[in-house]
Amino acid sequence: MENSLNQARNYEKIYGEQIRDSERPLFHVVPYVGWMNDPNGFSVYKGEYHLFYQYYPYNTTWGPMYWGHVKSKDMITWEWLPAAMAPDQKYDNAGCFSGSAIELPDGRQLLMYTGVQEWKREDGFRESRQTQCVAFGDGKDYVKYEGNPVLSAKDLPEGGSEVDFRDPKIWWDEGKKSYFAVIGNRPADGSGSILLYRSHDAMHWEFCSVLESCRNEYGLMWECPDFFSLDGSSVIITSPQDMLSIGYEFHNGNGNIYITGEYDPLTFRFDRKEIHAIDYGLDFYAPQTLLSPDGRRIMIGWMQSWESSHHQPQGKKWFGMMTIPRELSLRNGRLIQEPIRELEAYRRNRVSYHDVGVQDRMQLPSISGRCIDMTVVVRPSGGRLYEKFHLKVAKDTRFYTSITYNPGTSILTFDRSHSGFRHDILATRKVLTRFRDGEIKLRIILDRFSVEIFVNDGEQAVSSTIYTEQEADSISFEANGMAIVDVEKYDIIK
Ligand code: FRU
Repeated sequence: MENSLNQARNYEKIYGEQIRDSERPLFHVVPYVGWMNDPNGFSVYKGEYHLFYQYYPYNTTWGPMYWGHVKSKDMITWEWLPAAMAPDQKYDNAGCFSGSAIELPDGRQLLMYTGVQEWKREDGFRESRQTQCVAFGDGKDYVKYEGNPVLSAKDLPEGGSEVDFRDPKIWWDEGKKSYFAVIGNRPADGSGSILLYRSHDAMHWEFCSVLESCRNEYGLMWECPDFFSLDGSSVIITSPQDMLSIGYEFHNGNGNIYITGEYDPLTFRFDRKEIHAIDYGLDFYAPQTLLSPDGRRIMIGWMQSWESSHHQPQGKKWFGMMTIPRELSLRNGRLIQEPIRELEAYRRNRVSYHDVGVQDRMQLPSISGRCIDMTVVVRPSGGRLYEKFHLKVAKDTRFYTSITYNPGTSILTFDRSHSGFRHDILATRKVLTRFRDGEIKLRIILDRFSVEIFVNDGEQAVSSTIYTEQEADSISFEANGMAIVDVEKYDIIK
């Protein structure tokens, strides 16, 4: 077990290097080799952005979890670092699950994660428990703390489960001169809750409160919580498992929610105001945030759904991808997401069109590409509402991915049925947008294997993977009835 990390580092060196740059996204993070899920340890360390991820190097499927590692100066160009942690201790023999990172006052980087221990009972039944552990490092190499675990069953409130006790997100509270962490748990009612803990040194922790609970309303177990203040409110984000659909807001299965509310730092109570989905696309889970040195709250998510992860595109040597990091803000109580402004430094070849009348299918000169940042504004012509507007991207004679807007119902439909995926995975999602007299603004970030749509200046985000061959790079516009369209497009070039 001791050598698992070195073995993984050797393996990723040999096999990761064989993956050509063109086989990876241009500006989205993927594993160096093998499998990736949740973002972990998204943080600033010694002036650089670090991102770790749930990682299984040896296959493109989930396995005993390692932590992969990349760092960046601008969150667009990332540098690979060797795997940071392997499941090599008794308390994490079944995996180093999700967690977070922080820079300590003495200059070391602390990783806080969930150790999963599994053992077989005499009758053969496999049991497991989850505890919180820490490791210390220099931004590349990490040593697990000899006092691990730092939080275990004895630190749970009554009725809490040690089988589902995971995903610590740590932060420093300057006012209270304390570390705090939120951790997902499963209370006696079988659904999810978020526990709040406090520490003076990130090693000795005490329980503060049950910050928020699912009460069987929004899915079951709540995974990967995060908690921060934003524009005068407090915001919880979490990823509930096993949700049931509600209107167009929440879909079945593993989802993602944000909860706005008021937090009382004296009693550690949180009063819920509103709950909404974070991202309405097909592939989004387990987001995590950091606070940048210039005060921006930035979120990155796993751009993949668990459900469709069992069907993978043929021949890939990596699987699992991160979203583009997004700047968060609150507008009218709602979470606004916009691609980080650092992307703008990579925009080239601006092309723009104004007031184009769109009816029959048409293409616009120079509006094409698979690594682009494009904004499309659609509005009615002369006060008469068009019936539907269709935008097709990653298109050739066989393939396309469509984005359709119906101004009568305000529904935006994303559809990747014809994107060339050879498995019957979920391919469409409908999003109820907020009506604006037939006008809609879509900012679309395309990378080689993904589409991220930011609706109406970040009011809603819709993220999905597509694995269409790269030659399919046309874009077409079409409307039933007449729509007036503005388009601005940049190539993203590195
Ligand atoms: C969320 C999750 C976490 C867990 C990790 C394991 O996707 O299930 O709760 O820590 O993945 O890889």
